[in-house]
Amino acid sequence: MQYIMKGGTPLAGDVIISGAKNAALGILAAAIMTDESVIIENLPNVRDINVILNAMKEIGVVVEMIGDHKVKINGANIHKVVVDNAHIKKIRAGYYLLGALAGKYRHAEVALPGGCNIGSRPIDQHLKGFQTLGMDTVVEHGLVKVDAKRLVGGHVYLDMVSVGATINVMLAAVLAKGSTTIENAAKEPHVVDVANMLNTMGANVRGAGTDTIRIRGVERLHGTDYSIIPDQIEAGTFMFAAAVTHGDVTVHNIIPQHMDAITAKLREMGCEISEFDESIRVVGKSQLKSCNVKTLPYPGFPTDMQPQICVALSLAAGRGVVTESIFESRFKYVDELTKMGAHVKVESNVAVIDGVRRLTGAELNAPDLRAGAALVLAGLCAEGITTVNDIEYIMRGYEDFDRKLRELGAVIELVDDEAEAKKFRFRVG
Ligand code: UD1
Repeated sequence: MQYIMKGGTPLAGDVIISGAKNAALGILAAAIMTDESVIIENLPNVRDINVILNAMKEIGVVVEMIGDHKVKINGANIHKVVVDNAHIKKIRAGYYLLGALAGKYRHAEVALPGGCNIGSRPIDQHLKGFQTLGMDTVVEHGLVKVDAKRLVGGHVYLDMVSVGATINVMLAAVLAKGSTTIENAAKEPHVVDVANMLNTMGANVRGAGTDTIRIRGVERLHGTDYSIIPDQIEAGTFMFAAAVTHGDVTVHNIIPQHMDAITAKLREMGCEISEFDESIRVVGKSQLKSCNVKTLPYPGFPTDMQPQICVALSLAAGRGVVTESIFESRFKYVDELTKMGAHVKVESNVAVIDGVRRLTGAELNAPDLRAGAALVLAGLCAEGITTVNDIEYIMRGYEDFDRKLRELGAVIELVDDEAEAKKFRFRVG
């Protein structure tokens, strides 16, 4: 399977953004912490979500799709707390099942997390938090095992701002005895979304969205009906798609405030942005201007948007410097961009990009989820035909990526084999 595209068409029109994958992963884990049924709406239909739903089914959770983007979860009959299926190792957020199961049953074993290969991704902060709540933790035979006689609230100071550790500790702490404080907590919108969802289940979580989260443990959680926030990164990717193709795209179903860092950079690069209650319109000027950017925890510029802005800088006038401060090996896709004629020099965690007038189509491999999407953006503004292989990565986090792009006028198709690719080439000339 690959995406094949012909670049050069300015994208125009409206696109509806799906629910946030990274919020959904935490929220699905939270949903199994009660024996009552939980309904989750605005669930994105992407592969990472299917992986976690399947893992949940294997331990006895009843998962019932009651709409395209709506699921009913019941965790009353969980019969094992060991999550070790082949797929869960491939996603990062399987570890949320540790916090959720340990909170509910005081014991859990989950296969060590995988996820995108964008640098070393330790889980020491998760384990430190669990230990503070009274758990013994051990990693053996590829499993992270946590165990506690009782969970007690405590004071957790995270050494670095970690989305995963913040959510995982929060999950376990809502059912611990007494109060927990998480300091230096991540402030990402999906941290707030998981906290809000837990509160609708009867939890007592305060301060999510600031760097201090206070949780007062409760005896039990109950069922709820909760709708997931829109995906900030999917929205940002389409906003950059508008910018690089000199298009005119409105992203709908979003929370504009979550997009502030992205909107600011697009304005700096010369795009015209209009904000509405639940949508943002991006008009890309014919020549983008370069800028410098450093990835930072929210509300800074997200690391998950770093490859997309690098593509835009590849085509901007002047030199741009991109500093990646979250993950150390997140520039692997640069070799692919170079094949298209981009001028990018990477040294350690800094990329220096000298904008070129045009990119040219090439055969590319997606190295990870966000970089894969960024390479598609590059293909959509390059001259000629571009193919992107290994698109399973992209499907992990983008719902119907090619369909949404086609609806904006992009000439792109998902093809299964060389024969279909040939047909595409023949058709688009
Ligand atoms: C989450 C997102 C991912 C995003 C990242 C940063 C999910 C499923 N994934 O990943 O898309 O790129 O946030 O916004 O939500 N760290 C440690 N020890 C730990 C935990 C983290 O050293 O125990 C380090 C990491 O190596 C990294 C930094 O902290 O350098 C931030 O990682 P973290 O926020 O935890 O990222 P994830 O939750 O894995």
